[in-house]
Parts: sequence; C-alpha cells; structure tokens
Amino acid sequence: MSVAKLDDNRKVTTHRLFEMKQRGEKISMLTAYDYSMAKLIDQAGMDVILVGDSASNVMAGNVTTLPITLDQMIYHGKSVVKAVKRALVVVDLPFGTYQGNSKEALASAIRVMKETHADCIKLEGGAEVRESIERILCAGIPVMGHLGLTPQSINKFGTYTVRAREEAEAKKLVEDARLLQEIGCFSLVLEKIPATLAARVASELAIPVIGIGAGGGVDGQVLVMHDMLGINQGFSPRFLRRYANLGEEITRGVQAYIEDVKSGDFPNEKEQY
Ligand code: KIV
Repeated sequence: MSVAKLDDNRKVTTHRLFEMKQRGEKISMLTAYDYSMAKLIDQAGMDVILVGDSASNVMAGNVTTLPITLDQMIYHGKSVVKAVKRALVVVDLPFGTYQGNSKEALASAIRVMKETHADCIKLEGGAEVRESIERILCAGIPVMGHLGLTPQSINKFGTYTVRAREEAEAKKLVEDARLLQEIGCFSLVLEKIPATLAARVASELAIPVIGIGAGGGVDGQVLVMHDMLGINQGFSPRFLRRYANLGEEITRGVQAYIEDVKSGDFPNEKEQY
C-alpha cells in the first residue's frame, strides 16, 4: 500500500482546521499514546493526533476511561508530542480533573500545556462544564468539545448504545453544540449519535465537527488506533473499519521468535559477535 503523499508539511493549527472545513476538506484524526506509534502516524500524514483518555482502556487495560490520572495523561502526552512534527496534538483532560470546579479545570489544562507541550486539550460535556471551558479559554488554551456518547459518563448512561436517538436528548445535544461554539471551542467531537443529527450539527456550526460513529456528514473522522489497526481484537462496533490486522501479525511474529529460540535456530552465526 502506498503512503499518501503530503502536499503540505506545515504544522496543523486550529486555524488550519477551520480553513479545511471552509473548503470542504475532510479532517483525519487518530489516537496515539506513545512515541513510536505517534511518529509513524504523523509521518503518514494525519491531521490531528488525539492523546485520548482511551489510553485507560487500550494502554492500561481498564474497563472504562475513568481511572486514568492527569499524571498518566501527561506521561502519554509528552511521549506523543516528542514524536510529532506536523499534526495538531490534542490531549484529553481525564475524568475528575475539570468537572465541577473551573479553577481546578484551568490548573489541569495548564499542567497539560506546560508539561506536554501539546497544542490544545479536549474535554467532555456541554452546559454542565461551561464555566470550566470558559476559564480554560481565558488562559489562551484551545478547547475541543466532545458530545454524544461521552465515555467519562458511562456510569450515568449505563450502556454504550447510540445516544441522542430520543428527541429531548437530541435537542440538548444541538443546544450544547451551539453553546460550545459560542463560548469559543475550536472544534467538536460527536461520538456514536445518529448520522442525520451529526450532519445537521456539522452543517449548522462553523467550527469543525469530527465524528466517531456519527456518519459521513461531518467534517472529519476519529478512531482509536488500537481498534482500526486490529490490535484490540475484541471490539467490533458497526462504525469501526479495520485497516490492518496487527493483532494477528504480532502473534505470528512472536510465535516465530519463540519457535526459533526453542529450536536453537536464533541466533545464527551472522547474528552473533
Ligand atoms: O479517548 C478517546 O480515544 C476519544 C475518542 C474516542 C474520540 O475521546
């Protein structure tokens, strides 16, 4: 497979994402949590790299995103930023570091920016976290919003099913999306909501709307790297397209190495000093 040729190696900024939306160019976004993968993803030409709190699931093996700490997110953020030359790097504020106390939210966002050198932060929620978002924005830190199936609220939802199918929840989502744009978020992620609703939000808002399980009518797409590369094999929702089967490839490679060690075939004469 040939790697897409980049016609523009300039650093991606929040402003450039806005321009991409204006000219109808779709935005690519993928998660990364470590230096080596972030380097490959950036070199492949990804527009946005998200250091997602999904690190809690795919890196730390937790069932939900709730346990990951700010220190752990900063560790992942630092590793990714070191590798990235072109993509915009977004770091998630983890659960419990911004809800309910806007001063704490600002302190969390400042730690992320100072310690990781990322470009911006993402957090989940609408009107409930308005004060936190406004305070963070006042410090000049760009904020990406996240609505729909917000995994940090999984205990409230009680299910990972599609959100905002009901009229009332759809209405609140549209109001929250308008609010996030109005108070100054530069972009918005919509997760697992009906495609028609997501398309409606994307066409109404001037800021880029990135979808995950939100259909093709939005301004860009985001996936979790371990899911789309087939590293995390136990997760196959309808919205996921697998672009590689690294899980099988890694198992094959590791088994071949075990066999060679056991049989004495590795190392051979050329592989020693
Ligand atoms: O943490 C994450 O990976 C995310 C994406 C699912 C958008 O927030």
